[in-house]
Amino acid sequence: MVTSFFPAVLNTPPTASKNFEIAGFPLSLETLVPHLLKESISEGEIVEGIEQLSHTFTRDRESVEEAYLTDLQVSAYSSFYFPTNFPKLHYLLDRLPLQVLQELGSAVLIDWGTGPGTFAFSWCQYWSQKGQTWNQSGPRVFAIDRASSMIKQANKFLSAFPQPIKFSTDKDIPWGPIKEASKKALLFGHSFNEMTGSQAYELIAKVDPSFIIFIEPGTKEVFKKLLPLRNKLLSDNFKCHFPCAHSVQVQNEKSCHLQGGDDWCHQIMVSSHHPDIERLSQRLRLDRRSQPLIAHFYEKRERQHEAADSLKDNIKVARLVRTFPPNKVGVEMTVCDSNQQLINLEFLAREFKGEEGRRKEKIILSLRAGDLIQYKVLKQLPNKVPGKLNSAEDPITTQHGHQSWRATFIASE
Ligand SMILES: C[S@@+](CC[C@H](N)C(=O)[O-])C[C@H]1O[C@@H](n2cnc3c(N)ncnc32)[C@H](O)[C@@H]1O
Repeated sequence: MVTSFFPAVLNTPPTASKNFEIAGFPLSLETLVPHLLKESISEGEIVEGIEQLSHTFTRDRESVEEAYLTDLQVSAYSSFYFPTNFPKLHYLLDRLPLQVLQELGSAVLIDWGTGPGTFAFSWCQYWSQKGQTWNQSGPRVFAIDRASSMIKQANKFLSAFPQPIKFSTDKDIPWGPIKEASKKALLFGHSFNEMTGSQAYELIAKVDPSFIIFIEPGTKEVFKKLLPLRNKLLSDNFKCHFPCAHSVQVQNEKSCHLQGGDDWCHQIMVSSHHPDIERLSQRLRLDRRSQPLIAHFYEKRERQHEAADSLKDNIKVARLVRTFPPNKVGVEMTVCDSNQQLINLEFLAREFKGEEGRRKEKIILSLRAGDLIQYKVLKQLPNKVPGKLNSAEDPITTQHGHQSWRATFIASE
């Protein structure tokens, strides 16, 4: 049975996915500071610790072999990145097909590169909010990190906020219980970008998970590094449930359309944080309200999912890649469709008249990269750059020659 984590949080409503914001994470400095390795840390010291960390990791993260982290650095990381990364897992889980989510609830999580336990705790809170109960005793999360100081910090949080989590360093991995778990989800949380692609692949082979989760910085470098691994996973019979969009017609995944191009696929998570974390983010000049991320979710294909994706009446699904400021014609956007092709969609302004139209317009204007949309095609248009009349220099059209469609907006989920 899951006990509560940060009791105040449990009284808040579940994540507000309808308006694409994550609410209800009042993780404040006040809550965290008494449980940090450096208990009496000041705001100035947090800033100093984070600056030291970014200096260590600015270039070539993969070559940083188990960087020694001081108590100040671990405490600074935990004060700022723990609360601001925490909602990213909820963002991703809220966007999975229901059928997949139902199976995921019974899986044991292996959080690789857990740091202070960010996604280990976030996982427990997510399922607790969903009312999931775990009857068996023993850990539901095995969380591993190569930095012993991070594990020390994570254990300190654990004694304050008990959860069925077992933290270990990579010298002391409980392989026995991990191998015994019948269904496993392996998560890389900002740790894939600190290892090589082949290290990650070897780890996947060793853990043999049913689900794989990546939550990584939303950078081009991470995307380029993740694509070859994605292709390997697809050929190893994994299915990508996020960010790729699927429809009933598509049984087989194709290679990503962005392969070899200059553009990259990422999402934008909009979230609010406790005022003291917001103040810290201003002081650090690091925007945490609108965070780019690269989230991927894979499932080993052991059953047919296609029925769950089926939509009636020629409704199509696509993942939003980018929107453009509305103009007098209407709203235009680039999406990745269920054939994993980038296409441009144009929704005419006249669609947004009347009460229903204004509701749709409000939804469209609140969409962010990574959101799933449902639409119906009206007609094909000549290729052009969305949002602009002149397309000649736009790299998207010139490099990929996207098709453009006039469409009608149905919904977003
Ligand atoms: C940026 S922190 C992320 C911590 C946490 N997952 C989060 O997102 O807030 C990356 C962590 O991954 C750990 N890490 C990197 N490579 C690893 C590896 N090969 N094995 C275990 N841990 C690793 C680092 O020690 C570090 O604590």
